[in-house]
Amino acid sequence: MKVPAANSIKDDDPTGTYHHPTDVTAGQWTVSPSERPHLYRIRHRRANGEQHIDTVVDYDNLKAKLLKWDREGFVRREHAGPDEKPIHRSTFMRDLLESAGQTPGERDGSLAGTRVGNVAMPHGNGGPFVPAVNRAYLFAPRFDNVLRDIVENRRILLIGHTGSGKTSLIEQVAAHTNQGVLRSNMNGQTTVGDFVGFWTVKGGETLWVDGVLPTAMREGLWLIVDEVDFAEPAILAVLTAVLEPGGRLLLKEKGNEIVAPHPSFRLFATANAVGSMGQYRHLYQGANVMNEAFLDRWRVYRIDYLSRDEEAQVLLRTFGRRVSVQMAQTLAAIAADCREAFMREDLASAFSTRRLLDWTELMLRTGDPEVAAGPTIYSKVGAEDVALIRSIIQHHIDPHG
Ligand SMILES: Nc1ncnc2c1ncn2[C@@H]1O[C@H](COP(=O)(O)OP(=O)(O)O)[C@@H](O)[C@H]1O
Ligand SMILES: [Mg+2]
Repeated sequence: MKVPAANSIKDDDPTGTYHHPTDVTAGQWTVSPSERPHLYRIRHRRANGEQHIDTVVDYDNLKAKLLKWDREGFVRREHAGPDEKPIHRSTFMRDLLESAGQTPGERDGSLAGTRVGNVAMPHGNGGPFVPAVNRAYLFAPRFDNVLRDIVENRRILLIGHTGSGKTSLIEQVAAHTNQGVLRSNMNGQTTVGDFVGFWTVKGGETLWVDGVLPTAMREGLWLIVDEVDFAEPAILAVLTAVLEPGGRLLLKEKGNEIVAPHPSFRLFATANAVGSMGQYRHLYQGANVMNEAFLDRWRVYRIDYLSRDEEAQVLLRTFGRRVSVQMAQTLAAIAADCREAFMREDLASAFSTRRLLDWTELMLRTGDPEVAAGPTIYSKVGAEDVALIRSIIQHHIDPHG
């Protein structure tokens, strides 16, 4: 809040900081109550931070100063000093909480649809690309904001370690809302042609084939661009064009045809090592750095592995009574220890919930954790990892117990 200095005379309270909005060399004046009644302390701090005036004046003297500062162009920035309380500090949270959680649709209940987690979501249009519901899937409350962002048609980038549940979160929301999803993995052979489309000859005729992006945009499907940090620059350039809500796609190759997004179209991306995951970049060889301008076009959510308790719950929901509570807790603890070893770089391979479920399933058939670990864990990792994982397992499960 900026007030001309002279106005402070009319105020009962002339205290505050007076600065010059255009002259950066002018420094700033601070007026604060003095220890003695009816007197004011005046300080001037130069632009370089040096304080060279610190004096006590009476009200008449202060009034003269305020008029002088006003003539010079100083304005009062109330309560801006370091030792003064910011304005509205106490009321900010009260005001915020009054407005928060009043997203249109939630307040008036006009959003007809399905409840996923704690969020009301619109129905999708069905079709062959609706993923299967995973009955064991757990919508943790921390995912609620991702779900709300889907309703609001925001661009969502999910970052986190491999196997932490990025892809399955979007797929399971789609499964529960009867919404079709396409996936395109950038860490592989996906070309601009696959992504955008290409011309081909069929029966002597030249035909245009839409890539996954225009297909999803036209049909109102969701598109998950997996491992976007491995995408080639040409694909990123195309992606950037449709990142604005309502953003259209220009098919240059198809005579500049414009593809407008269907209202149900949503765009998601996943990545392992961008943004706050950058500290783990060494674990994901070959990932590109995403620049801030690109990241700022997304809501970037970090998806961590399920907690031990959550993972134990998932095991119980997946296998029912075939797995006891104790077994579930032990298995979840093994997975957690392996992940810690991975983050310490003692293990080269990540330990996903998928791997844990697969191991458990085979263990229930063979009755032997070690045998079951062969095809589900050991055969997939290097010899050093086998040794460490085996010792972690034996630490939790006594083979002769
Ligand atoms: N919240 C969850 N509830 C139940 N299972 C989960 C959950 N999150 C992840 N999983 C399991 O972990 C597996 C790996 O998750 P995925 O989404 O493929 O990981 P990412 O895409 O991060 O690599 C899923 O197939 C699923 O079985
Ligand atoms: Mg994935």
